[in-house]
Amino acid sequence: MVAVAPGPASKKLGFKVAGEVGAELVEVESKVFPDGESYVRFTRDVEGKDLVVVQSCYPPQDKHFVELLLMVKTAKELGARRVAAVVPYLAYSRQDKRFLEGEAVSGRVLLELLGAAGVDFLVTVDIHSESILEGLGYEAVNVTAMPLLARYLADLGLERPLVLSPDRRREREAGIVARELGTEHSWLEKTRDLKTGEVKTQVKELPVEGRDVVIVDDIISTGGTIANAARIVKEQGARRVVAACTHPILSPGAEERMRSAGVEIVVGTDSVESSVSLVTVAPAVAEALKRRFL
Ligand code: R5P
Repeated sequence: MVAVAPGPASKKLGFKVAGEVGAELVEVESKVFPDGESYVRFTRDVEGKDLVVVQSCYPPQDKHFVELLLMVKTAKELGARRVAAVVPYLAYSRQDKRFLEGEAVSGRVLLELLGAAGVDFLVTVDIHSESILEGLGYEAVNVTAMPLLARYLADLGLERPLVLSPDRRREREAGIVARELGTEHSWLEKTRDLKTGEVKTQVKELPVEGRDVVIVDDIISTGGTIANAARIVKEQGARRVVAACTHPILSPGAEERMRSAGVEIVVGTDSVESSVSLVTVAPAVAEALKRRFL
C-alpha cells in the first residue's frame, strides 16, 4: 500500500504527486510553537505503508528541513515499511565541498541526517551538484525539470530563441531546453568571490541580435547571476530576455534586480512556492518514484 504525505512546505505539490502516482493521501498537521519550535503529526495510520513524504527545503530552510526530519523519523517509528523523501529543493546543496578550510560541507550533512532518520529513498530535482548524492547508504535520485520548463517556454511564442546558461556548469540544462525548443544554446563563464559572494560574468560575443534569449539556471537566489547575463545579451541587441529556473528562491530584491537588467519574464517551478512557480515538477518526481520506489 502506497501513501503520499504532503509536508507543510509542499502541500500543493504533494497533492499533485499523489494524483500522479495514484496513491492515498496522509495529511500532515503542523504548527509552530510560540518559541519557534516545529510540530508535525500524521493524521492517518502509516503502519506497513510505503510512504512518500513531500517536503521541499526552500526558505526558511532550517525549519523546512527539521519538519522533514521529524516526518521521516516519525513515519519509521510508526511502522511505515519504507519511506521516500521527495525534496525538490535540497537546501545547502551549493555547499557541496569545503571551499575554504574549516567550512562545513552542509549539503552532505543534511543528506546524512536524512539517512540517520531512516529514509530509504530520496528524489530531488536539479540538484546543484549530483556528486553529493553518492555513497549515502540509501538510494538518491536527481531528476531534471528542464523538459517541463521547456514545454512552458515553447508556448511563449519566442522569436528565434537562443538558450543561454549563465554559468558553464549549467550548460547541460541549457542544452536540454534548447533541444526541446528545437534551437541552439550557448553559455557564459561566471566566477563568484568566495568571501563577498560577488558574481562576475565574462562578456562574450553571442548571436543574439534581434532574437529572444532564454537564460536557464538551477537556482535564482539574489538574481545577480541572471542580471549579469541579461545585461550582456541586451547590450548585444537581444529582443526579449526570459529567465527560467527550477528553484525560484527569489531573495528580497531579486526580481527588481533582474527586471532592471532587462529580464521581461521569470518562470520557475513549484519546487519553491513563489509568485513565478508556473510549472509543476510533479510528473518528473512521479516518474522517478514509479521507476525506482513503487
Ligand atoms: C550557482 O552557481 C547556481 O547555479 C546559480 O547560478 C546561483 O545559485 C544563482 O544565485 P544568484 O541568483 O544569487 O546569483
